[in-house]
Amino acid sequence: MINGGIPLKGTVEISGAKNSAVAILPAALLADTPSTIDNLPEISDIELLSKMIEYLGGKTIKKEHEIIIDPKGINSFCPPHELASQMRASYYLIGALLSRFNEAAIAMPGGCNIGVRPIDQHIKGFEALGAKTTIEHGIIKVKADKLVGNHIYFDVVSVGATINLMLAACKAEGTTILENCAKEPHVVDVANFLNAMGANIKGAGTDMIKIVGVDKLHGCKHTVIPDQIEAGTYMVAAAATHGDVTIKGIIPKHLESIIAKMSEMGVIIEEYDEDLRVTTAGRLKRVDIKTQPYPGFPTDMQQLMAVLLALADGVSMITENVYEGRFKYLDELKKMGVNAKVEGRTAVIEGVEKITGAPLKATDLRAGAAMIIAGLAANGVTEVKNIYHIDRGYEAIEKKLQKLGADIKRVK
Ligand code: EPZ
Repeated sequence: MINGGIPLKGTVEISGAKNSAVAILPAALLADTPSTIDNLPEISDIELLSKMIEYLGGKTIKKEHEIIIDPKGINSFCPPHELASQMRASYYLIGALLSRFNEAAIAMPGGCNIGVRPIDQHIKGFEALGAKTTIEHGIIKVKADKLVGNHIYFDVVSVGATINLMLAACKAEGTTILENCAKEPHVVDVANFLNAMGANIKGAGTDMIKIVGVDKLHGCKHTVIPDQIEAGTYMVAAAATHGDVTIKGIIPKHLESIIAKMSEMGVIIEEYDEDLRVTTAGRLKRVDIKTQPYPGFPTDMQQLMAVLLALADGVSMITENVYEGRFKYLDELKKMGVNAKVEGRTAVIEGVEKITGAPLKATDLRAGAAMIIAGLAANGVTEVKNIYHIDRGYEAIEKKLQKLGADIKRVK
């Protein structure tokens, strides 16, 4: 429940990156000895992954924002389907278990309903390393006599496929070259983690990655990078409520495209080494947004920015180039008086002076966060349901917003 119209003020600390942590926990299973991972976000996707690792025979010791993973006891390559199908990143267990056992059997991944989301590039990669893949009864089975390095060109830039093939190739025989790779900060963070365990990966963060297989990996200590999209979420919340918020513990480089687009709208962003201060001076201006893989404008910020555009002066266009079904949330926002229409992969948003509170249903993770921000900027009360979507990727969002002065509460 949100009572809107209050400018957010104060400081918010950014948590570790979801899309990095959900790959690093499976990656820890490639080692023979324990790893300690800190700056871990307290989100439900991490709880789910820890449960799956325990089910596979691994030991986990959980402390606040930290986990120790001991992979020595791992004795299964088949996590419970009802758990694996609840989240997208369970597909990283395929790369990890294939590398450990030359075999894996995992339920087709779940995750946000924002488009078709095939995994053909993952499978293409595994098969190029010598694995055979079958999909039956919703289960992906991948098996290899042995994994041998190869040259793999991705037909589409995919975060998941790039990371999964790094996991599968780092103990394969010989050298693997990955081309047309994703360059997101979390791809680099996972490569750094693997190299700290003794892998030999070069070029992460560029569109070509070279992996020289090694026999063994050992545990290590790793600090997860700050969450680029969580930081972007609080930047939008500050601007949408015309507040004054300092966002702490970020890496400005990771936010360049977001800072550029918001500055174009007239948002005032002061950059410091690890912090940003966000304020505004009057009504924001319209802009056009085209989502692209990193370092382009992140698709995960698209829904959040739509709330700013809905209150901006003029007509804006959002072109969603990564997913074909990521505008569903607009039907919910229209209940608040948002003026938007969708044509194919483009949404046309005509800015309005004000929006009003309404009962909304979160349709996925970022859509849910966008609805909370719309509620903070609206006149009156907004109710956001299906918040389990939001808890998957945001740590204690209502507590962090309350600390910034928001009138928001979680109602059972
Ligand atoms: C990751 O998803 C993120 N999820 C997504 O964040 C994010 O939207 C996406 O990358 C793009 O940045 C995680 O990291 C867990 P992709 P992923 O493979 O790996 C197509 C959030 O809100 N494709 O980069 O699934 C695909 O359909 C979530 O935190 C294929 O065609 O995304 C999409 O159109 C939502 N075949 C495009 O590529 C494949 O085998 C990019 O997908 C793989 C992908």
